[in-house]
Amino acid sequence: MTPKPHDATTRVDVALGGERAYPVLLTDELPGEPVAAELARAVPRARRVLVVTDDHVAPLYADAVVAAIAATGREATALTLPHGEETKALGTIGEVVDAALARGILRGDALVALGGGVVGDITGFAAAILHRGVAFVQAPTTLLAQVDSSVGGKTGVNHATGKNLIGAFWQPRAVVASSRVLGTLPAREVRCGLAEALKHAFLEGEEAVRWCRDRVAALTTLEGDATRALVARCVRYKAAVVAADERDHGVRATLNLGHTFGHAFELLLGYGALTHGEAVALGLVLAARLSERLGVAAPGLEELVVDTLRAFGLPHDPDAADLPALPALIDAARGDKKAEGDGVAFILLHAPGRPEVKQLDFARIAALLGG
Ligand SMILES: NC(=O)c1ccc[n+]([C@@H]2O[C@H](COP(=O)([O-])OP(=O)(O)OC[C@H]3O[C@@H](n4cnc5c(N)ncnc54)[C@H](O)[C@@H]3O)[C@@H](O)[C@H]2O)c1
Ligand SMILES: [Zn+2]
Repeated sequence: MTPKPHDATTRVDVALGGERAYPVLLTDELPGEPVAAELARAVPRARRVLVVTDDHVAPLYADAVVAAIAATGREATALTLPHGEETKALGTIGEVVDAALARGILRGDALVALGGGVVGDITGFAAAILHRGVAFVQAPTTLLAQVDSSVGGKTGVNHATGKNLIGAFWQPRAVVASSRVLGTLPAREVRCGLAEALKHAFLEGEEAVRWCRDRVAALTTLEGDATRALVARCVRYKAAVVAADERDHGVRATLNLGHTFGHAFELLLGYGALTHGEAVALGLVLAARLSERLGVAAPGLEELVVDTLRAFGLPHDPDAADLPALPALIDAARGDKKAEGDGVAFILLHAPGRPEVKQLDFARIAALLGG
């Protein structure tokens, strides 16, 4: 018997307490029906649903999602935002809330985030504050959102002075990730997601890094089995970390590997000049370099990180002439939300699979990286 498409679904549970536990479903179907079905299961009382998306994703997938939700007897409409990181601002939250209220979304209704990390972070934050919290479902359409941002309940927007400075913890009721939608992603966005997946691999361990390196061709071309396995692997890893430390007081901080300098690159170059993943890739190199210079990692870690990023076609030279120099990066990192006083909780790596959160003064970081 040929298995039904539904049988191809992989389920990973995010084991949070009580009603905050939720499934991440990885499906090979287009998002319409699986999203509608999951919404009906997870938020059965919802009568009205606002599907928030962006102007790249809307023409490709939004009609099908709206129609599938409507077919379950709910009133569904879409709100299309301009694409891009600039949209991830407080003003947009006002627009989403205005639209939701204008369309009669009540406390028991739901939002759906159909898009990449930008749409997911915006929609989650709007859901967190609307009526003091309405349900939302993540339907991530970028590789980055599938391997990382749709899971874990960090939501929010940027401020002119830094990334993600405004936000809330608000868990989705379900995540439905369709491998089919990745086919329309621009190649650069695929690499962006791979950067975040490689961050997970370096956190997970040597075997995970090797697994990725053995599949460079399959992963960069989004070959089905390899991509499905990568997304499942990243989601399992992230779900476990989030379940252990939902509010980011301990182990979850390690997910910030590469992000202190990654965010600094993004801020200095203007959000959008580098993709988030490209900025994180450069940040990973500096984290490995700092780990070596502190004597925390054995020599060779930076080389392994650089080699891996290069194999995947990702930026790997933070010293390139067209990138901001160290003093500017350090200044930008001071504004990061993880910075405290003169220092920052920096994520070092002893080796793949052995991260350490260490409080470091910026002056020390500057001195170590300066030479
Ligand atoms: N909340 C978290 O835990 C978390 C974790 C990591 C990253 N993030 C955030 O995620 C954001 C980056 O997310 P992103 O990389 O998904 O960027 P994005 O949402 O901007 O999407 C990238 C581009 O791809 C387009 N797109 C999306 N899906 C598509 C599809 N299927 N086909 C064609 N085009 C498509 C979008 O319109 C956009 O132009 C950043 O703001 C970052 O801070 C959040
Ligand atoms: Zn990230």
